[in-house]
Amino acid sequence: MSPTEAPVVETVGEALVWGENQLGLPHHSSYVNEAHEILCWILKIKPTDLFLRIQNRLTARDKIRFFDMMNRRVRQEPVAYITGEKNFFGRDFIVDPSVLIPRPETELLVDQALTHVRKRGIEAPRVLEIGTGSGCIAVTLAHEMPRAHIVAIDISEEALRVASRNAARFKTESNVTFLHSDLYGKLGPEWEGDFDMIISNPPYVSTEVYHTLEAEVRREPRLALDGGPDGLGLIRPLVQHAKRYLSPSGILLLEMGYDQALSVRRILEENHFFQIEIIKDYAQHDRIAKGEMNGPV
Ligand SMILES: C[S@@+](CC[C@H](N)C(=O)[O-])C[C@H]1O[C@@H](n2cnc3c(N)ncnc32)[C@H](O)[C@@H]1O
Repeated sequence: MSPTEAPVVETVGEALVWGENQLGLPHHSSYVNEAHEILCWILKIKPTDLFLRIQNRLTARDKIRFFDMMNRRVRQEPVAYITGEKNFFGRDFIVDPSVLIPRPETELLVDQALTHVRKRGIEAPRVLEIGTGSGCIAVTLAHEMPRAHIVAIDISEEALRVASRNAARFKTESNVTFLHSDLYGKLGPEWEGDFDMIISNPPYVSTEVYHTLEAEVRREPRLALDGGPDGLGLIRPLVQHAKRYLSPSGILLLEMGYDQALSVRRILEENHFFQIEIIKDYAQHDRIAKGEMNGPV
């Protein structure tokens, strides 16, 4: 925006009204909150504190940043890429366009992993994550279970760079080993039978659906979303080879599409997993599949 186009905005309240109008009219109303989110990020305050400052004047620097960030949002850049951060499990993870923006459903996957480890009383769990992206799953598990060791794989070197920065941000570098690999390709025989858990939020959208996703979702890496013709292109080999790397009491936890429960259950059965469970997300959609190496005792 050139200086002559800059709107006359002096206070937090005026900035909000301007921002809401930029996003609110042509878009869905949930986007309006994004003007709030951006302003809170600039002012480094919580959303609940925004309205206490409605009369406060913005500095010239904050105004320029706000106009610039809002312009990017209007051009359909996701807010998380604009601020460079996304909250996951209560922590602000670094994100950029080389990684998927962490989703709330994935917090449920982490919850399932933590519940399992605590229920089984595994003191120093060994976890393998396939497709770590920003590292949000691996780093959260390492943070929540300081005695855990996590091997986190991704096929994207750019994503692994972001994940390493997140491991450093949350001081979990010593618990997480990042590995550049296509699925299990670079895992040597020393890892066979080693893991208490394999966890993954793989790309699971079918290519056909991928092409119908909103433009802003398609700003995220295709590699993180497109799971091939039926969306199961990565899940199949991931499940097929999982048993080789799991310990005899190991467990596999997978995020999947809301309509993939039957197919994923079948893939787990075909690969001789036991105690298969499908877990729903907050919207009551089938979202997580769980399979164990052991049958019921
Ligand atoms: C849906 S994203 C998940 C990212 C992150 N774990 C999360 O939950 O937000 C899937 C990740 O799998 C990675 N990926 C895709 N194909 C892969 C493969 N063949 N081997 C390893 N990683 C792969 C992508 O680069 C991407 O980072």
